Amino acid sequence: MIIPDTDNPPLQLDFTDPALLYRLRTSGKRQGIGKAVGLDKARFSLQVLDCTAGLGRDALVLAHLGCEVTMLERSQPVHDMLAAAMERAAVHPELQQTLKRMTLFRCSAQDWFASMGQDSRRQPDVIYLDPMFPARQKSAKVKKDMAMLQKLLGPDEDISEVLEMALLHAKYRVVVKRPPGKWALPGPEPAFTVSGKASHFSVYTNKSLSSMPL
Ligand SMILES: C[S@@+](CC[C@H](N)C(=O)[O-])C[C@H]1O[C@@H](n2cnc3c(N)ncnc32)[C@H](O)[C@@H]1O
Repeated sequence: MIIPDTDNPPLQLDFTDPALLYRLRTSGKRQGIGKAVGLDKARFSLQVLDCTAGLGRDALVLAHLGCEVTMLERSQPVHDMLAAAMERAAVHPELQQTLKRMTLFRCSAQDWFASMGQDSRRQPDVIYLDPMFPARQKSAKVKKDMAMLQKLLGPDEDISEVLEMALLHAKYRVVVKRPPGKWALPGPEPAFTVSGKASHFSVYTNKSLSSMPL
């Protein structure tokens, strides 16, 4: 599905875009998003719940690095566009295995947490949040796409509520991606921050990943 925009070319998702494939090839477990979710410490594949799937790129990187990623997207058009992109990518030789580790649901994080209740079998190791903030810059191609998404959806005003719920449901960590220059959401202080090439991550810890059973 293509999301129309009157001022810009249509937004179409393509996981086989060379810039994205390059990002996958150069992402590592000990830097940026990999380090933020704890791949430098984890002893086996992490179950990650991405509550803000959006264009699916962060989830793709995490799955490429070996995580099992459950993705939630509450916007129907964004969900449909992402589902179509995932279906197309599933037959690409370089992405086939990665796509097998990604599962997408059209659901709000709040509804997902409500349905989880206290069921510890459904507790993800890490919960990942990348909310839409009002002032994203528009320089690179990826950021242009994100600016169009922002125009379509507006900012995610309820992210503090989602963070609060995420902290109650994550086994080890909650990771929040932050725009450059803005460090933490209101609420509890993150345990530490990780700076990537273009993004910063606030990391909240519930339990040390070093205590993960073998
Ligand atoms: C900034 S985008 C995420 C971009 C994504 N990390 C990527 O790499 O493409 C935020 C997305 O999260 C979705 N979202 C925000 N809050 C949500 C919630 N509470 N539940 C489900 N989806 C949510 C929005 O609809 C939007 O599509």
